[in-house]
Amino acid sequence: MTGQLTFIDLKPTSENFLDAVAAGLAATPKTLPAKFFYDQRGSKLFEDITNLEEYYQTRTEMALLKTIAPELKRLIPAGSKLVEFGSGSSEKIRVLIDQVGKFVTYIPIDISRDYLKMEAEALASDHPDLNIIAICADYTKPFEVPAGMTGGEDCTGFFPGSTIGNMTPGEAVNFLKIAGRLLGPGAGFIIGVDLKKDPAILYAAYNDAKGVTADFNLNILRRINNELRGDFDLESFRHRAFYNALAGRIEMHLISLADQTASVAGKQFSFLKGETIHTENSYKYNVGEFQALAKKAGLKPVKAWWDDAWLFSIHFLRVG
Ligand code: TRP
Repeated sequence: MTGQLTFIDLKPTSENFLDAVAAGLAATPKTLPAKFFYDQRGSKLFEDITNLEEYYQTRTEMALLKTIAPELKRLIPAGSKLVEFGSGSSEKIRVLIDQVGKFVTYIPIDISRDYLKMEAEALASDHPDLNIIAICADYTKPFEVPAGMTGGEDCTGFFPGSTIGNMTPGEAVNFLKIAGRLLGPGAGFIIGVDLKKDPAILYAAYNDAKGVTADFNLNILRRINNELRGDFDLESFRHRAFYNALAGRIEMHLISLADQTASVAGKQFSFLKGETIHTENSYKYNVGEFQALAKKAGLKPVKAWWDDAWLFSIHFLRVG
């Protein structure tokens, strides 16, 4: 049997960049939405982050995935459909397809149309037997897929990279409910979650010596300058990331080094020296904390694994 590649475009409405920036910079405290990090340069910088010595997450999750592949094999029925939320991780998908080996259909869901197409085509040419149904949609909002496409015990969801940590706990529960509904009762769900740990390790991971994460954070101002007629002086903002222990999250900010004004599409925004723009959160969860969160969304924890250094965890959950 040869596989086929199907593309379904649910035409997600992308939030307007200018509206989001204007609203975020007018708020107190100021914010900028993290999803706008990822233009071409931002995506490349993020890829560089995943290869940094200090950024343990990507390599630890990959190694763990390979270690637990035999166990996942036992938990997943043959002939399963693999549904991935966000399709930025073809390396991890290849581990599941090659080493768990039970999947006949791969369904990546991503908001970024061109990227989704490119990744799906690359995977299709390497795996001629795999059916691929690429769905362009915003998975953080409820959406309908054609009847029979997903739903039930022969479905397995995949959400790696601790992307769930970039949502607030409330948003995460909401997302898990939406995803659970899509996957259907009895479906499995594999989720990668960064663990709470020594804050010094966390601090280093988001303040790398080469300054790649700083560059990535500042890139959002560069994008505003290029795409929204902005005049941010990149030299007078600095990357700041720290662990907020009370909230259990890394916070990323851009801090203004002076009293200054910047304009965006003709609108003025002023900054006090020391004022910050909050650009991203990355929540960290102990195994038990994440299991409690999953339960709130109607998911049953089946098993969790972590590496020997207790850096990163992978959960297998069952949709109730
Ligand atoms: N989810 C990952 C994390 O929080 C990836 C990520 C998102 C990230 N935004 C980032 C990593 C900004 C470094 C900097 O770590």
